[in-house]
Amino acid sequence: MKRLAILASGSGSNADKIMAHFQQSEKAKIALVASNKADAFVLERAKKFEVPTYTFSRKDMEAGVLLEKLKAENIDWVILAGFLLKIPVALTRAFPDRMVNIHPALLPKYGGKGMYGSHVHEAVKAAGETETGITIHLVNENYDEGKIVFQASTPLTSEDTPDSIAEKVHALEHKHFPEVIEGLL
Ligand code: GRF
Repeated sequence: MKRLAILASGSGSNADKIMAHFQQSEKAKIALVASNKADAFVLERAKKFEVPTYTFSRKDMEAGVLLEKLKAENIDWVILAGFLLKIPVALTRAFPDRMVNIHPALLPKYGGKGMYGSHVHEAVKAAGETETGITIHLVNENYDEGKIVFQASTPLTSEDTPDSIAEKVHALEHKHFPEVIEGLL
């Protein structure tokens, strides 16, 4: 049984789908939901699934406190699901090819510093793209540059707004992220 930790900073709708997916699994267990925001809604969602939660500050993370926690919990895989802080190198090195992130666009487009949340969908809209999508990738020491393991796309029309783009992207994320994680384990 693999032990997974989810790191998330916000609402956690992806975390919700992942927890639901693995609830009865014999392959993996969501052993921890950790957040850098004490009021993140993802923590409420974790309680609903009776998954233990943990909160930490950026300073804690940079000092290695989060890494110690993940080690103490015998975590095998780290899932980033809307986690907004840059991961320290020591943390990525501790989970080589065992840390996965979801990005709400078709990388290498719309990736890199500052490209998160609504900024991504606004940039996609401003560029007049006819499609967007999701990218699931392994995490390395540079933003959004780890090995891509899965992409899925969705068509856009000129009627789409950043909000409707976000909805389409979320639907793709919810559909694919849990099963792509399962395939990686
Ligand atoms: C998702 O769009 C994900 O791709 C991005 O942050 C968002 C998190 O949404 N990295 P939620 O908190 O899972 O609802």
